[in-house]
Amino acid sequence: MYEEASQVANDAVGSIRTVASFCAEEKVMVLYKKKCEGPMKTGIRQGLVSGIGFGVSFALLFLVYAASFYFGAKLVDDGKTTFSDVFRVFFALTMAAMGISQSSSLAPDSTKAKSAAASIFAILDRTSKIDPSDVSGMTLESVKGEIELCHISFKYPTRPDVQIFRDLSLNIHSGKTVALVGESGCGKSTVIALLQRFYDPDSGHISLDGIEIQRLQLKWLRQQMGLVSQEPVLFNDTIRANIAYGKEGDATEAEILAASEMANAHKFISGLQQGYDTMVGERGVQLSGGQKQRVAIARAIVKSPKILLLDEATSALDAESERVVQDALDRVMVNRTTVVVAHRLSTIKNADVIAVVKNGGIVEKGRHETLINMKGGVYASLVALHMSASS
Ligand SMILES: Nc1ncnc2c1ncn2[C@@H]1O[C@H](COP(=O)(O)OP(=O)(O)OP(=O)(O)O)[C@@H](O)[C@H]1O
Ligand SMILES: [Mg+2]
Repeated sequence: MYEEASQVANDAVGSIRTVASFCAEEKVMVLYKKKCEGPMKTGIRQGLVSGIGFGVSFALLFLVYAASFYFGAKLVDDGKTTFSDVFRVFFALTMAAMGISQSSSLAPDSTKAKSAAASIFAILDRTSKIDPSDVSGMTLESVKGEIELCHISFKYPTRPDVQIFRDLSLNIHSGKTVALVGESGCGKSTVIALLQRFYDPDSGHISLDGIEIQRLQLKWLRQQMGLVSQEPVLFNDTIRANIAYGKEGDATEAEILAASEMANAHKFISGLQQGYDTMVGERGVQLSGGQKQRVAIARAIVKSPKILLLDEATSALDAESERVVQDALDRVMVNRTTVVVAHRLSTIKNADVIAVVKNGGIVEKGRHETLINMKGGVYASLVALHMSASS
């Protein structure tokens, strides 16, 4: 119960700007107080119980003192025993009483320790279904980057009543760029999560170069992929460290520079007072959205992966920076299999294949020119909407 309460506090403090901008401080406080009510009630009860227990155990101890002195004195007075015998008995009794009273006051702690240990062991014994430290599985000498998704059906384990994919099949040829389009919430990011094997599909299979990805070593598989996610996460470190993070082992200064140059980030970084040594703050709050995206792109580029996954990688950039970054990405994408998710027409127009995700499957597939001429097609109507919105 305490954990739930502190989660509320943690969430609120971690995103205090959101809380403040909705003037929700009071609300969060009330929520926190409500979450604390449970532990408070049990705390009071527990306090009463342990207070009484504590009192009783000490009372017992002193009662034993009193009784032993009383009877001892009486026996000595009657001449039935000696002074030293009384003290022998007295010490035996008080020692025993002390032991009992102390162990009874420790009893609640021992139950606490038991449940704490049980929860730790439960975590330790939990085996993850997809274990990244598992080194079994094969690795390939060289990767072509031929990806095939074959009749995938998928539900998120936390929401088993919502079928995300029913029957999704998609071929992504080596070195080609596939753009996933579709309305928000149709499952584009989920495709990317499946490719990285954060989840296994319920049925159907995904293969890389003709080998099912379940049979590949997970760590190796993820090493082949560079991801720029929809909400890029940076770590509270310098920009240099954040870019170098992309590469296993150490990235050289030249590689970092080249990557940020390609991501169109070098200019803004060198404009900062401390340049590459600037701290980005917690989760990168000290950078703008577009700057964060460019650092994230540089981080993916420095890895030089065979497969690039770009989920709305340029959505926060202005048209000019987007064009520059897109040009850079176009250069990076050469000879790499790329999956892009984007809403902007300019980003997806040049893709080799555009796949429209809808109702748990791919409903249309083809080049921009073909799809746009399909009468009543989903893509054509998306583009028409886009055009009318931008004009
Ligand atoms: N971890 C999760 N657990 C349960 N359901 C999820 C989870 N992540 C996403 N979903 C659900 O899966 C569906 C597809 O989500 P997804 O993130 O793939 O959409 P998307 O196509 O990337 O949308 P957008 O364009 O807005 O980014 C959504 O309806 C969403 O509510
Ligand atoms: Mg998404």
